[in-house]
Amino acid sequence: MTYIAIKDLSLTYQTKTKSVHALSHIDLDIEEGEFVSLIGPSGCGKSTLLSTIGALLEPTSGSVTIAGQTVQEVRKQRKIGNVFQEARLLPWRTVGANIAYLSELAGQRPRQSEIQEIADFVGIGAFLNSYPHELSGGMRQRVSLCRAMILDPMVLLMDEPFGALDAITREKMQVELLRIWEETKKTIVFVTHAIDEAAYLSDRIVVMSARPGRIQADYVNPLVRPREPFGRQTHETSDFQSVLHSELMRAETEERTDA
Ligand SMILES: Nc1ncnc2c1ncn2[C@@H]1O[C@H](COP(=O)(O)OP(=O)(O)OP(=O)(O)O)[C@@H](O)[C@H]1O
Ligand SMILES: [Mg+2]
Repeated sequence: MTYIAIKDLSLTYQTKTKSVHALSHIDLDIEEGEFVSLIGPSGCGKSTLLSTIGALLEPTSGSVTIAGQTVQEVRKQRKIGNVFQEARLLPWRTVGANIAYLSELAGQRPRQSEIQEIADFVGIGAFLNSYPHELSGGMRQRVSLCRAMILDPMVLLMDEPFGALDAITREKMQVELLRIWEETKKTIVFVTHAIDEAAYLSDRIVVMSARPGRIQADYVNPLVRPREPFGRQTHETSDFQSVLHSELMRAETEERTDA
């Protein structure tokens, strides 16, 4: 059953000097518990689309609903979790206080036991009293994930969350994220540039065309779980990755006549 419903969504940015047509007539349905990746050329509107799902941006036309509610309603209840490429932590707060921050904004103070539980679950339970500058990039992203997860979000929106990490840390985080997803069954929309990451993590991979972004292709991932991480590739993995690669090449080069 459809959980996130994006209907005929278009978005044009208006700046002082120009208008930028970022998204054009996006229709996309995502089911509850699904792990969907968005890939596409740089500037095609992936972050913009994610921001409309998170109600951080209003579309120019069209709509997004989650479980039948407008995303603005869901955002008001703080039931949307965001993880960005940078962890965006408050440097003067400890890890524990960073995890609690969004709940505090909503007028709630999570119990220490609740913070400890989520931090243990995401693998930073021993660092609650540390400050962000004392952590590695991977650990900071774990804190960022905890801060989103403690809200018990209806949807987790992740915008290239591992893009700034070194290769080995990135692989570890991918394995961890799959474990967390399998245990919590959250609905995840995940933006990435990396085809191997999309193929390893997702149930579905949505390919967007160059700007203005449209849905160019929507692949159900044929690779059965559990999948082989760390580049131990099967024929099926490399075949699927080459299909995605060709689709991305097409997205980069295809001449647009409908912009
Ligand atoms: N606030 C803004 N004002 C004007 N134009 C914007 C704004 N934010 C983004 N854009 C433009 O909208 C288009 C889509 O941007 P967006 O950041 O969504 O792309 P993206 O697919 O996430 O790119 P990348 O892969 O590089 O992160 C780009 O052409 C970008 O320059
Ligand atoms: Mg982006």
